[in-house]
Amino acid sequence: MLFPTVRMQRYRQSPQIRQLMAETHLEKADLIMPVFINENLKDKLAIKEIPDNYQHSSESLIPYLESLVEKGLSSILLFGIPQEKDSLGTQAYNPKGIIQKSISRIKKEFPKLVVIADCCLCEYTSHGQCGVLKEGRLDNDKTVELLQKVALSYAEAGVDIIAPSGMMDGMIAEIRKSLDQSEFTMTSLLSYAVKYASSFYGPFRIAAGSKDTFRGDRMHHQLAPSQKREALREALLDVEEGADYLMVKPSLPYLDIVRTIKEKTLLPLSIYHVSGEYAMLKKAAKDGIVEEFEAFQEIFLSMKRAGADFIINYYTEEMLKRLGN
Ligand code: PBG
Repeated sequence: MLFPTVRMQRYRQSPQIRQLMAETHLEKADLIMPVFINENLKDKLAIKEIPDNYQHSSESLIPYLESLVEKGLSSILLFGIPQEKDSLGTQAYNPKGIIQKSISRIKKEFPKLVVIADCCLCEYTSHGQCGVLKEGRLDNDKTVELLQKVALSYAEAGVDIIAPSGMMDGMIAEIRKSLDQSEFTMTSLLSYAVKYASSFYGPFRIAAGSKDTFRGDRMHHQLAPSQKREALREALLDVEEGADYLMVKPSLPYLDIVRTIKEKTLLPLSIYHVSGEYAMLKKAAKDGIVEEFEAFQEIFLSMKRAGADFIINYYTEEMLKRLGN
């Protein structure tokens, strides 16, 4: 059947019909908010490079989260900035470290909030790399041993989901093993399975305090943007190793990867709209090039359409306000 019998515009005549037709939905529960906690701070500090986002002190964090939980915040992803850094990132697995203390405090205050903690050493090492260095290169296996310690300390603090982000080989299998040995069988793993060596992480590296110390690139462990089959292999390996959730990061340049992983695995899939992607859009909105909320909504819907189940993003606070009840 063709025109004039068929008229596609019949579906678009009113907001109500369009709503009835909507194939993809963006909901508050899809949003995961990154939260930075800085041990050096007494009060919250605006992150200039990630507009409308903050580094929090352990004190400022609770009232801030309270206001967001009221607006429907359901999940957060924690990053810590320690007072002291060293070559082994020891503060990352200090049971009294900034993240460990914050996890217990948050779970006590907001038992229903899903607390995810990033598990990597780059915020904690004096050289800003994601693990232990040997002759200028990352020592994968030694790094994984330390990540196991980090993960256990998070589990002990009561975290819901641990998110290893360093792209180390075997990290998921080894962390799962040590969690299970310590009877943390219900602590979940969200693997940053497919993390590209991207130019869109700049603002984050400033916010997480790894900019000044970090030298060189991360091409030895993160994926090159040219790689698709390799990305799929990373994801499939993490499925085998026991990941509960997968992630693709950054987001917009890699929606093809999201689609492929969605088709080839059965795991829930998250996508990370990273700091550089966010900052570019905020700048465009500030300069009047796009309408901010509409642009974010359009981009987030594209991620859901591609197959993402949850979206880690720096626009969560505003989106929660805009999405209403
Ligand atoms: C590593 C990590 C990075 C991001 C999240 N976790 C950055 C990196 O590889 O330097 C970047 C996120 C963003 O840009 O928003 N712990």
